[in-house]
Amino acid sequence: MRLIDCGCGPGSITVDLARAVKPGDTIGIDLREEAVVQGRMLARKRGLANIEFLVASIYQLPFADCSVDATFTCAVLQHLTAPLAALKEIRRVLKPGGVIGIVDGSSTITFRYPTNPSLEMWDQLRRLKRRYNTGRSTDMLPLRALLREAGFARSHASGTLRTEMGPPAGSLDETRKVAQNHVIRHRGVPGELALAQGWATKEDLEQMAAGLQAWGESPDAFYAGPVFAAVGWV
Ligand SMILES: C[S@@+](CC[C@H](N)C(=O)[O-])C[C@H]1O[C@@H](n2cnc3c(N)ncnc32)[C@H](O)[C@@H]1O
Repeated sequence: MRLIDCGCGPGSITVDLARAVKPGDTIGIDLREEAVVQGRMLARKRGLANIEFLVASIYQLPFADCSVDATFTCAVLQHLTAPLAALKEIRRVLKPGGVIGIVDGSSTITFRYPTNPSLEMWDQLRRLKRRYNTGRSTDMLPLRALLREAGFARSHASGTLRTEMGPPAGSLDETRKVAQNHVIRHRGVPGELALAQGWATKEDLEQMAAGLQAWGESPDAFYAGPVFAAVGWV
């Protein structure tokens, strides 16, 4: 088996895929050199010999037609302006009977307790950022329709709620950690974009960060958001 993880990031999922398909080969590709270097380091640390990382674009995979058995793409299509073109490219490299696994965690719908207006404003910013970057405002990629349009013969799809906490989801340490991750994400690109576009002021952003941290300190804190998945067959 030959499996390609498209948009593999630092390879944290790719290494588990490599273990699953061993002695088959796994190749992680990502646009960012830095991610590929991290992936190589992780594979070395895990002692995996059946894995390789390449800098490449999902729109132009460096593989021949019908040369790959399985492909995987997690949290990548949701960031692309042309997810259909990416799926057509993946379809090109898959062998007859080949399979694709997709995870889409793009939804900004959030179930959060306790909530407050600054957290709701944060979710609104995430929506604006996605629309700005991709031109899409929907809360879900129509994965089955995209797979059909890309030429896949058959597909299954599912959805779950991810809590980012636990299990078990209950300790203060854990909710603080989730809040901290959200604050880091918030302070990065979405924050800069929000300022540049005039969607929020510096004070608004500080208020949102404080709101996230306050949520993390709540003894009853809970958070969940939808994640969608699909499997397609050539
Ligand atoms: C949110 S990360 C997901 C990483 C990994 N799949 C995971 O779930 O842990 C999205 C990744 O897609 C990569 N990416 C974005 N556009 C890409 C493209 N056109 N071709 C290849 N990779 C791309 C980014 O560099 C980033 O590493």
